[in-house]
Amino acid sequence: MIERILPSGVAAAELFEDPPGLEPHPLEAPLVARAVDKRKREFVGARHCAREAMARLGVEPGPVLRGDKGAPVWPRGVVGSLTHCDGYRAAVVAYAMGVRSVGIDAEPHDGLPDGVLDHVSIPDERDWLAGGGLGDGVRSDRVLFCAKEATYKAWFPLTGRWLGFEDARITFVRDDAGGSGMSGTFRSTLLVPGDNPSGAPLTGFDGRWLVSDGLIVTAIVVS
Ligand SMILES: CC(C)(COP(=O)(O)OP(=O)(O)OC[C@H]1O[C@@H](n2cnc3c(N)ncnc32)[C@H](O)[C@@H]1OP(=O)(O)O)[C@@H](O)C(=O)NCCC(=O)NCCS
Repeated sequence: MIERILPSGVAAAELFEDPPGLEPHPLEAPLVARAVDKRKREFVGARHCAREAMARLGVEPGPVLRGDKGAPVWPRGVVGSLTHCDGYRAAVVAYAMGVRSVGIDAEPHDGLPDGVLDHVSIPDERDWLAGGGLGDGVRSDRVLFCAKEATYKAWFPLTGRWLGFEDARITFVRDDAGGSGMSGTFRSTLLVPGDNPSGAPLTGFDGRWLVSDGLIVTAIVVS
């Protein structure tokens, strides 16, 4: 599913249910030794996807540890992103020489729980939602949230800094291009300075979104 919103040059893997008997890599095991079963399964499932995606890219599959502020730690020369929610785990990886950063997110295609929207959106975005958002059949508030989380996951490895929900404005286009479900593009415009050690200041990111099979997925690939 997520491959439908990815450019060429990246590798992805996903799971819609957890295969029995999955275990963490021995170096990852201490990270979930005391975790509850749900956390263990999402952690291991996403990392199973990560190793499959690394193999597809042509990289020796290894452990994916957790680094600064929880960001995944990839082998040297590789960038990537992980996501997991009920009924879904995914990983996307790419060679760092072609891609600077990746951010992916997945959410169930339900409305946001009561009271959450005001905390994760800015007035412009709420006006857009009040005007109909992405239109019929799409839970636009949850797609907005999903795009914001992908934005943070793409931003953090480049800057090493926090980015709040009020620090980017997301605008969407729906094109339903290709295949089943609803889909389109989005632009995350940064509302804070995007200074970063690896190049010119960041001003925003371009991404794609897809709603299909009861799930929302978003992806940003920064070249
Ligand atoms: C970190 C965060 C984005 C994770 O999203 P989520 O929907 O809760 O969970 P997901 O399953 O989709 O993703 C979890 C994965 O994100 C990755 N992740 C966590 N922190 C990260 C960071 N700082 N940078 C990049 N990736 C990160 C990890 O791989 C994690 O999986 P793991 O815990 O198994 O290693 C979210 O919890 C959060 O803190 N959001 C606030 C920041 C934000 O979204 N700002 C909006 C800016 S517009």
